[in-house]
Amino acid sequence: MHQTDGSIAVLDFGGQYSHLICRRVRGLGVYAALFPFDTPYETLKTMGVAGVILSGGPASVYDESSPHPDGALLRGSLPLLGICYGYQLIVQAHGGEVQRASRREYGKSSVRILDRSGLFEGLSQEKISCWMSHSDSATKLPEGMSVLGVSDNSPYAAVQSADGRQFGVQFHPEVAHTERGDAMLSNFVFNVCGAKKGWSMSNFLEETVSELSSSIEGRVLCAVSGGVDSSVASVLLNRAVGDRLQCVFIDTGLLREGEAAEVSKFLKEDLGVPVEFVDAADLFLRSLKGLSDPEEKRKVVGRVFADVFEHYARTNGPFSYLAQGTLYPDVIESGRSSAPASVIKTHHNVGGLPKDLSLRVVEPLKALYKDEVRSLGAILGLPARVLQRHPFPGPGLAVRIIGEVTPDKLRICRQANKVVEDVLLEDGVYNKVWQAFAYLGDDRVTGVLGDERKVGYQVTVKVVESQDAMTADWYRASHQMLEKISNRITNEVEGVVSVVYAISSKPPATIEPQ
Ligand code: XMP
Repeated sequence: MHQTDGSIAVLDFGGQYSHLICRRVRGLGVYAALFPFDTPYETLKTMGVAGVILSGGPASVYDESSPHPDGALLRGSLPLLGICYGYQLIVQAHGGEVQRASRREYGKSSVRILDRSGLFEGLSQEKISCWMSHSDSATKLPEGMSVLGVSDNSPYAAVQSADGRQFGVQFHPEVAHTERGDAMLSNFVFNVCGAKKGWSMSNFLEETVSELSSSIEGRVLCAVSGGVDSSVASVLLNRAVGDRLQCVFIDTGLLREGEAAEVSKFLKEDLGVPVEFVDAADLFLRSLKGLSDPEEKRKVVGRVFADVFEHYARTNGPFSYLAQGTLYPDVIESGRSSAPASVIKTHHNVGGLPKDLSLRVVEPLKALYKDEVRSLGAILGLPARVLQRHPFPGPGLAVRIIGEVTPDKLRICRQANKVVEDVLLEDGVYNKVWQAFAYLGDDRVTGVLGDERKVGYQVTVKVVESQDAMTADWYRASHQMLEKISNRITNEVEGVVSVVYAISSKPPATIEPQ
C-alpha cells in the first residue's frame, strides 16, 4: 500500500465530489485517499496523515441520523478543511448553528474575499466565482472563527478557526467551475498541513515495482483484453516479475476489429510481455446461439469466459497469483478495505472468475484513478492509441447486437463499429467524446441498390459525451461527419441499407443498447 505518512485523508460523507477531492489533491503531488466518515481519529493519527478534508454530503447535520465523524477529530490537532456538509459539521461541533438556508444556492455563485489569509493566501481577486450546492448554511459561527469570504446568500461562505488549523467553505473548491479552487486546496495542503510533494506516477512506478518484486513468489496469470487497465497492469507486473508473468488473451469473437493483432503488436512484440492467444470465438458463438435476452447473453459470455480461463490456468499452471486491473473507484465502491486484496472480485469484465483455482489476487492499480493509469501507461511506453481507447464492454459486441448474435449480425456490427471509430479519428473527434459505436438489431428496412429493391439491416450510430459513464449526453455531431459515417457504412458494410443516429441521453437510455 502507499505511504499514508504525510498524505491527506478525505472523509467521505457521501458527496458526489468526494473522489474529485482526492484527484485534485493528488494533482498537486500529494497522495490522498478516501476513508469512511467515521474513521477513528487515532487511526488517522497512526497513519501519519498530514491533514483531513471532510467532504460534502446530502444529509443535514441537525438530522439525528446524519453521519458524524469521530468527535476527537474535531477537537484534535490535525488540520481540517470542511467542504459544504463537512464545513457545517465543523461549525456545529464548535457550538455554531446550521439551519436550512432561506435561499438555496445551486450552481454558480460568487464569493467576495474579505481576508487574504489561510485558504485565500496569494489570491489577488476581489471576487471569485465558485460552485455551490447546498440547502443548509451556517447561521451563527462558533466563537473565535473568523470570516474569510462572503457570498450573496451566505455571510459565512469561507471561515477559519482562531488557531488557523480548521477551515470551512460553503462552496466546492474541488470543482473546475470554482475559480482558483486549486490554489485554495494547495494553501491547505502545503501551508496549513505542511504536506510535501511526492506523489507522481514515476514514484508510484518505482515503489510498486520494488514492492511487487519483493513480495510476489511464483507465477502470475493475467487476462488481458487490449483495454487500458489490463494492459498497464500487465506491463507493470512484467517489470516487477519478468517472465513469471503469463498473460492470456481470450478471443471471444465478440471483440473489435483487429483487437487481437493489435495486442500482439504492442504488448508482445513492442513491450515484450508474454501473451498467449486463445481463440475461443466458435465456442462463444455456439454458446450464444438462440439467446436473445440481454442478461442471459451477458451471463453466458461471463460463464464461457470463466470456463476458458480456468481451462487455460489448469493446463498452463501452476500459478500463484491472478492479476487484475481493478482501479481505485471500484475498490471504494465495492466497499473493500485498503488491505491487500484477498477476495476475487466478480469483475463485470470477466463475469466472475472461478473461485476454486485458489489463486491470490494482485491488483497493482487499485490505488489509481483512470487518468493516473493513463499517465503511468505513457511512462511504461504504451502507445497513445491504446491509452486513449474508448471503454469497451466485457461482453463485447454481444451487447451491441440486439436479439440473437448471429455470424452475419456480428460481422456487420464489427465492420460498422470500425467505420465509426475510423471516421471519428480522422475528424479529430475521437478523443473528445466518451464512446462512439454502432449497434444493430433485427430491424430490416427496404432500400434500393442500383435499380433493385433490396431489404437490408438498419444500423444505429451512437456517440456520447460523459465524465464517468454515470450520465451521458448524445454528441452534437456535425452533419458532415454523420454523412460520412452513413455513406461509408452503407457502401462498405454488406447487408446494411440504412443508418440512424441515436439522440438519447443517459438517463433514461443506458450508453450501451443492452
Ligand atoms: P451503460 O450501458 O450501463 O454503460 O450506460 C456504462 C459504461 O460501462 C460500459 N459497460 C461495460 N463495461 N462490462 C464492462 O466492462 C460490461 O458488461 C459493461 N456494460 C457496459 C459501457 O461501455 C459504458 O462505458
